[in-house]
Amino acid sequence: MNDREQVFVFATKSEMSDFMILRWKEISRESVERKGYFVAALSGGKTPVDFYMKLAGFKEPLPWNKTHIFLIDERFVPFNDEDSNYRMLRKTVLDHVTIPQENIHPISTSTPHPQISARKYEEELKAFFKRSHDPIPEFDLILLGIGEDGHTASLFPNSPALNDVMHLVAEVMLDERGHHRITLTLPVINHANNVIFLVSGQRKAAVVEKIINQKDSSLPTSMVRPTRGKLIFLIDREASLNLSLSNPPHIRNSKQD
Ligand code: 6PG
Repeated sequence: MNDREQVFVFATKSEMSDFMILRWKEISRESVERKGYFVAALSGGKTPVDFYMKLAGFKEPLPWNKTHIFLIDERFVPFNDEDSNYRMLRKTVLDHVTIPQENIHPISTSTPHPQISARKYEEELKAFFKRSHDPIPEFDLILLGIGEDGHTASLFPNSPALNDVMHLVAEVMLDERGHHRITLTLPVINHANNVIFLVSGQRKAAVVEKIINQKDSSLPTSMVRPTRGKLIFLIDREASLNLSLSNPPHIRNSKQD
């Protein structure tokens, strides 16, 4: 870990979500002040649902009309499918805040093939970020989860998508539930200003230990190393159970911050 990397451990998932809300508030306001808009890419999965719902109900004003939301990844299913990340994001947060529809950027899954969806989304990213003249999009915030096998986004262990440095978006064929997927690639994730992982539950304890204590570089999550942005792990107590807490200063309780 270097000084751009931090690990925070929370007593509960709910405390972790509260902390994430404060980070969202800070990063969104700072981005809008600096360049006029805030752009985030959000994950699916169960862990961030609590955060998304709290964000939807957050009482302080947030710059939603200057916020753009992209997706980290998507299953190649229709938007009304219960496995659709876009559907989950709409139900938990997007339908409940004052974000303009044109600021929401779902990954289209109505194409004949996931590869076509990936190319289409790549074009959308290029068009949106063209004003920065940087060939790789610079997200203000990328919010990720971790799977028990160490996957993040839809980047699974040994997947060819892990080595795709030519594309901003890649297709991933057939996951464990039989879905094809579409995912942002590592060059995009590692170009963000803030990459934040939310991790919760005892089932994640073993993989969290491998990533943070053992620094197991074979796991996709360990390949997330922002080139100049911040890398932050927010972990609840259950997911931190195998971590060696005798390794400060990287492990802190949120209450101490
Ligand atoms: C998805 C995610 C995926 C997820 C992890 C953790 O769409 O499912 O992008 O990478 O973050 O699988 O999922 P949980 O939060 O459900 O444990």
